[in-house]
Amino acid sequence: MTNQDNAKKLAGEASLSHIENGMTIGLGSGSTVYWMIRKLGEHVKAGLDVKGIPSSGQSVAWANEYGVPITDFSRTQRVDVAIDGADEVDGQWNLIKGGGGALVREKIIAVTARKFVVIVDESKLVSRLGDFMLPVEILPFGREVTAGRIAELGGLAKLRRNDDNGVFISDNGNYILDCDFGGIQEPKALHHQLKQLTGVVESGLFPGMADEVMVGYSDRVSVLHD
Ligand code: A5P
Repeated sequence: MTNQDNAKKLAGEASLSHIENGMTIGLGSGSTVYWMIRKLGEHVKAGLDVKGIPSSGQSVAWANEYGVPITDFSRTQRVDVAIDGADEVDGQWNLIKGGGGALVREKIIAVTARKFVVIVDESKLVSRLGDFMLPVEILPFGREVTAGRIAELGGLAKLRRNDDNGVFISDNGNYILDCDFGGIQEPKALHHQLKQLTGVVESGLFPGMADEVMVGYSDRVSVLHD
């Protein structure tokens, strides 16, 4: 296992300290969350009574594989804690998410949760967001028009493709534009500008939403509080 993988594992497993019996847990997506779900499955087997609301097809599959019972918003609208990864985290805890294409469901879960815990390895910490291309989920119809509007805001938008060069389709049946804005000076303002564009479903900017950031290093976890 690489040092980075170990850092993700440590952060993912440490996040279980937020989980108590009876909770409904937002299950994020990505390779750091994988470790959280896997460990959570061990706790469930040992008797922990929790349910998870997964944010992606991939997280549904992991929950099933590791024995974490799942539920959905038709059964409960209470999420006690959401635990999710991120692609970048700045000093004010603004996030870029959506590298895996699950940003819409991740955000719905995060805004519903009483507590939103972010788990990352140290490589995700940045002084300013924007080296990672900002994922923006858009409706397929008129994608060229929407990309043009994003360009007017200063973002060079590239349609996300799969490894076989087919267009990437999100779990919601939409497209993802990976947008180069250079360094993002005002994440909150940019997020609101993007949200106002017809055709944009959601931006991968999560401005100031995290309640706690757990940072994994190769040999330890550092917890950043408010
Ligand atoms: C998924 O859409 C993303 O928001 C992930 O949370 C993010 O890409 C972090 O993934 P890793 O934990 O795999 O780096």
